[in-house]
Amino acid sequence: RTRSKEFVRRLVSENKIDTSDLIYPMFVIEGTNRVEQIESMPGIVRRSLDKFLKEAEEAHELGIPAIAIFPNIEPSLRNAEGSEAINRDGLVPRAVREIKKHLPELGVMTDVALDPYTNHGHDGLLSDSGYILNDETIEVLCEQALACAEAGADIIAPSDMMDGRIKVIRDALEEESYKDTVILSYAAKYSSKFYGPFKDAVESAKFFGNKTKDTYQMSPTNKLEALHEVAMDINEGADIVMIKPGMPYLDIVSSVKEAFKIPTFVYQVSGEYSMLKGAIARGWLSEEVIKESLISFKRAGADCILTYSALEVAKNL
Ligand code: PBG
Repeated sequence: RTRSKEFVRRLVSENKIDTSDLIYPMFVIEGTNRVEQIESMPGIVRRSLDKFLKEAEEAHELGIPAIAIFPNIEPSLRNAEGSEAINRDGLVPRAVREIKKHLPELGVMTDVALDPYTNHGHDGLLSDSGYILNDETIEVLCEQALACAEAGADIIAPSDMMDGRIKVIRDALEEESYKDTVILSYAAKYSSKFYGPFKDAVESAKFFGNKTKDTYQMSPTNKLEALHEVAMDINEGADIVMIKPGMPYLDIVSSVKEAFKIPTFVYQVSGEYSMLKGAIARGWLSEEVIKESLISFKRAGADCILTYSALEVAKNL
């Protein structure tokens, strides 16, 4: 009976998607008037700052609360230390300043991790044997976070999965009097093949080859470990935690929200986006699967979704 008519289906509906549930991840490049297609992400492009601003403005006008910025920097600026990540005049800090100047009310989130800046494609510094150096990496990440905060980023989002970095970044932000800067921790980030198209987008794929991040990102086999990771990051000072990827990890979203009752975000990553878009383009699935995928996150307990579909979904709401 409660399914018999549209009005009653609406009345008993338990979840809904609203523009305020969305964060739009965007890719920025140097130059002016440049737009580059990302082949493995249909409909998603990299833009120079002028074009980037226009797209951000559209997101803002549609009511999307925040965007996330990812850079694709020149290969010549990438090195083993990822030193461009801490350049206070680098592409990301400049992008943040421009957005804050023109769209002060739009939330701006920046990633903290070294992979777009290293010539090996890893998120941190490596020992001679190629093992990730946790503590040395944290020092660089801390500088990167401060560079973003100084530029005006509202949300600092460490996606690197080093241990202990949230506390160090929080302390540094407090010390430099960035007391209101939000830390969104990619707390349970899995070592996932669903990030493939993103590596094309920031062009870290050609540096990364077929290596893995298994020594610092989580194993897809584990769930209890995700709860430990989240607990650590909350204790260290995270305001918001994130689960990533999304659709294959809905059980993690649900358990985290249930256990900690803290703002819990989820990232519908590049591979999930491309998988749906690829099937839609071939006529194998209809457009509605996008919205259905987003409602699954809400049902699992997510408060907000990072999705490359944010703009098109917001247009249809
Ligand atoms: C980098 C980072 C990645 C993503 C966001 N930040 C890639 C990775 O960890 O390999 C992936 C996002 C996506 O696939 O859409 N630390």
